[in-house]
Amino acid sequence: MRPPEELESSIAEAFDLSARGHDRFAIDRFLAMGSVLVQRAGLREGEHVLEVGCGRGSTLLAALDVVGERGSVMGVDHRPGMVQLAGARVRARHAAGSDVRLDEADKPDFQPGSFDVVLANLMIFQLTDPAAALRHYATLLRPEGRVAFSTVAAPDRSFAAALAAIARFAPKLSAQRGPFRGESTIREFLVDHGYEHVEITEDVLETRFRDAEHWLEWVWANGGRELLDRVPAEALPLARAAAFDEIEAARSPEGDLVLTTAIRFTVAAPKTPARV
Ligand SMILES: C[S@@+](CC[C@H](N)C(=O)[O-])C[C@H]1O[C@@H](n2cnc3c(N)ncnc32)[C@H](O)[C@@H]1O
Repeated sequence: MRPPEELESSIAEAFDLSARGHDRFAIDRFLAMGSVLVQRAGLREGEHVLEVGCGRGSTLLAALDVVGERGSVMGVDHRPGMVQLAGARVRARHAAGSDVRLDEADKPDFQPGSFDVVLANLMIFQLTDPAAALRHYATLLRPEGRVAFSTVAAPDRSFAAALAAIARFAPKLSAQRGPFRGESTIREFLVDHGYEHVEITEDVLETRFRDAEHWLEWVWANGGRELLDRVPAEALPLARAAAFDEIEAARSPEGDLVLTTAIRFTVAAPKTPARV
């Protein structure tokens, strides 16, 4: 078991560690989700795509496969480590006009009408004002443009129980995903903020981890920092033990941990003046 000091310093670095972490863990959950998102968004050859909160670029690469040489992908992320890694992966494909920039996902700085599609893979619920972000994305889209984003429909039960166990040691946790908690609230939110033709589908995704240590490393390198940072340093060993008790329920007959998450994919188009 790792000493608490090491756990702490890893937590402190969580997001920049995570840029390298995906390779270290040999798990790319975002690629599986991103590939479905790209498919649900109905990307076509030659289209120009923006992904907000692109992380290390897995979804950008899935999008590039579809838009091809005549199209382009642009990613933004506010973590320099992510921008560096995703940028290197995109440029290695020699995709003209494609790149990754350091920018805020809620108001990425591009000319109006620059994109056919704005993608957000498992990140829109992290924004402080998603309504303002959606209104801004509408300005970046061309006629017939659309936004497509993924959210969690139902977390794996053991995963949720393990995070709840950690949360008991972390005061003032903001747990809920606001308008993204359910299908009807997503529809209502999009319509209220200028979108129509909302299509929502769901898929179930399975992720396997070697053991509880592997799972926890993955959690803090992939967005769990917000939660883990709230746990006082002296309570970290207890929080970790409580989480490990819960995550054990996901143990498969093969001995690894298998987590099953339902992901919701939403695609919508800004209302055009003619349609309003
Ligand atoms: C769960 S990861 C998404 C992974 C990525 N979309 C993919 O498909 O591989 C969330 C990403 O969003 C970024 N992020 C979160 N809030 C952001 C914001 N306000 N502006 C820019 N990036 C943000 C994080 O740095 C992180 O890389």
